[in-house]
Amino acid sequence: MLAELALRLATPASRMTRKLGLVGESVALWSRGVRQRRAWAEHHARCRNIVAQAIAELPQRRTAVILGSGLLRDIPLGLLAANFERVLLVDAVHLPQVRLRMHFRRNVAMLSRDLTGVMGWLAGERDGRTDPLADLTADPAIDLVVSANLLSQLAWPIEDWLVDHPAEAAKLPADLPARCIAWHLDDLRRFHGRVVLLSDVEMIERDRGGTITDRLDLMRGVALPKPDEGWDWPVAPFGEAERDRESIHRVGAWRDFR
Ligand SMILES: C[S@@+](CC[C@H](N)C(=O)[O-])C[C@H]1O[C@@H](n2cnc3c(N)ncnc32)[C@H](O)[C@@H]1O
Repeated sequence: MLAELALRLATPASRMTRKLGLVGESVALWSRGVRQRRAWAEHHARCRNIVAQAIAELPQRRTAVILGSGLLRDIPLGLLAANFERVLLVDAVHLPQVRLRMHFRRNVAMLSRDLTGVMGWLAGERDGRTDPLADLTADPAIDLVVSANLLSQLAWPIEDWLVDHPAEAAKLPADLPARCIAWHLDDLRRFHGRVVLLSDVEMIERDRGGTITDRLDLMRGVALPKPDEGWDWPVAPFGEAERDRESIHRVGAWRDFR
């Protein structure tokens, strides 16, 4: 608990990033990942393997961009750093332990960015979305882009914010959370290089008898092509969030999304 509080306070982040709960969520994800290391191991290994295969297949390895890099659990960072001239880690939140690790990597840089592009709009600072990837999508030297379990995380902070701010919400599109998902997919299609998309797409809750008690479309109705691979990620096994409920996320992997 104390470690989590200290991490929250020590993590640099914009006001809106903090207000949207992204710092708290990153810290919670770090501690849940420590508790659920075993349960999450297969999911992380599968993600890392898919990225490793993409690296092996590329004819050129100049810059790699990781969107939603977070704690880098699903990314083979050593392999990326060894194979590419430059690796860019893009996330709204870079926790201190990640910043410390990156300090010792010569060709890895971190970019703090809101990948929905709507934080300024929510804050009333501008009237519409900004393009969060204008510079990177224009860069022809980016040979690999990985969207690393980010997509499903783009909607919920906006949903929560709209519920908590009804007056401001009335002036914004009601389907803004779904639009954030669709915009990210459009952003990925604008890159010149190979794009690997990894994302959980559906949440299923089950009781101990195996009965499904809840289902949630994490894509908020946004359509995706059929993934190349899929698997289940036991995000909250029995006892993690609730004693007699488990939460499983269905994950999709697109090896060459564009
Ligand atoms: C499920 S985590 C995956 C993190 C990482 N790939 C890993 O395995 O450690 C989702 C990541 O998306 C980031 N994220 C969520 N909303 C974001 C936004 N609007 N802009 C940039 N990053 C965001 C979070 O900070 C978090 O690091």
